[in-house]
Amino acid sequence: MNLRERIEKLKDSLRRAGYEEFVKIETAHISGISYINIGEPGLEFLEDIAREELRTRTFTTCNPSCMCVEDLRTGTEEAEKQREIIDILKSIGVSTWLTCTPYEYMRIRKERYYAWSESSAVAFINSIFDAYTDKFPGPLTLISALTGEAPKTEILREEERYPRIIVEVDNDRRLGIVEAGILGMMIGSQYRGKLEIPYVKFRKTPFTSIEAIKSFLAAFSTFSNCPLVIMEGLSVNYRKYREKMCIECKLKIDMRDILSNLKDLSVRSSLKDLDDRSLVVIGCPHLSKNGVTRLIDVASSIMLRSHIWVFTCRFNKVTSSERRNIKVIYDTCLFVSSYIEDIKDKFDRIYTISLKQYYYLTKRVRDLEVLILVDKEIEEMLNNVSGSSLLVDV
Ligand code: F3S
Repeated sequence: MNLRERIEKLKDSLRRAGYEEFVKIETAHISGISYINIGEPGLEFLEDIAREELRTRTFTTCNPSCMCVEDLRTGTEEAEKQREIIDILKSIGVSTWLTCTPYEYMRIRKERYYAWSESSAVAFINSIFDAYTDKFPGPLTLISALTGEAPKTEILREEERYPRIIVEVDNDRRLGIVEAGILGMMIGSQYRGKLEIPYVKFRKTPFTSIEAIKSFLAAFSTFSNCPLVIMEGLSVNYRKYREKMCIECKLKIDMRDILSNLKDLSVRSSLKDLDDRSLVVIGCPHLSKNGVTRLIDVASSIMLRSHIWVFTCRFNKVTSSERRNIKVIYDTCLFVSSYIEDIKDKFDRIYTISLKQYYYLTKRVRDLEVLILVDKEIEEMLNNVSGSSLLVDV
C-alpha cells in the first residue's frame, strides 16, 4: 500500500467515526508527548506510525516533554523512552519545539484552519486571533498533521462560533495573573459545554499583561470544554461576533466575586517570607521571553530562601539558566515532568500562580502541599510584559 492509499485509509476510518468533511490546515500542534503522560501505549502508537514511514504534510509542532533535552542523556528509563518519542516525532517531520505556547513564535492567521490539541493554546489562538481549531485529541491531531487536513467539527464552522452567552465583568481595574485565572475558572466552570461560547464584556481594560491573558484562557479551557471565548476589545473580529451573537443567557461577575474566590483558593504571601522548603513554580502556560528576562533580573536581586523554577520554551534561552535560587527550565513543565519524583525530599510545598497548574498538580502530587500564591512582587515583575508576536489587531 503506498503513502496516498495509507492516508486515504486513515481518513476513511475518521469518516466511519462520523467526520464527513475535511479542511486543509495551516499547522498542527500535538499535545501529550510526555512519556509521563502517555506511557507505553502512547509510545507504541508512535512506533506504529513510524513503521508506516508516514511524514507530516503540514508544519507541525509539539508540547513539552517530561524533561529538558539535556537530561535525555541521563540514562534513566524515562529519559530513554522520552528520547525515543522525540526521535520518532523528528523522523516523521515534527518540529520538536516542546512548548505549549507555539503561538508566540509563529504567525497565526485569522479565519484559517488549524489542528491543535493543547487546550490553553487552542483557546488562545481561537479567542485572540480568531483562528479555527477544535481541541482535537492528540492522536487525531497527529493524523491531521500526516494528512494535512482536519475534520470540520462544529467549532470550525463560522455559524457555530457565534456567542450565546454574555458575561459582564464589572472590573474596577486590570486583573493580574492569578485574578485572571480565577475569572477564567469562574466562567469556564459555569459554561462547560463545547458550544457554550461566552462573549465577555469588561468595564475597564481587562488584564495587566500578556501573561494574565494566557492565565485567563488556560484556566477557562481547563474548566470548560469550550475552546473559544470572545473578549470585547481584545479578540480579533469581536465586532463581527457582537453583531451576530444570539444571546440566550447573561452572567454578571463583579470584583467582589473574583476576590472572594481568590481569598478561598489562594494564600497571600511575599517571596521573601517563604522558607527554603518552598518551591515556587512559574510558567504555566510557558512564560514568554520578556517575562523570563524580567523575572530573572528582578527576582535574582531579592534575597530568597525559597526556590523559583521558571518553565519556558528553549527559544527563550537566557545566558545563565541558574542564578541564586532561581532556575529556568526548558522543554518541560512540572506537571508533565519526571522531576516531581526528585523533589519530594527537598520541598514540603509547591506554590503556583496558575489555576491550570494548580488543578493538575493537585491531581498528580500526593506528598506535597500545592497552593496558589498571590504575591505582589511576582505580579509586578510580570506586569505590562508583552509577548513578542502578540500585538492584537482589533
Ligand atoms: Fe503548558 Fe504544562 Fe501548563 S503543558 S499549559 S505548562 S500544564
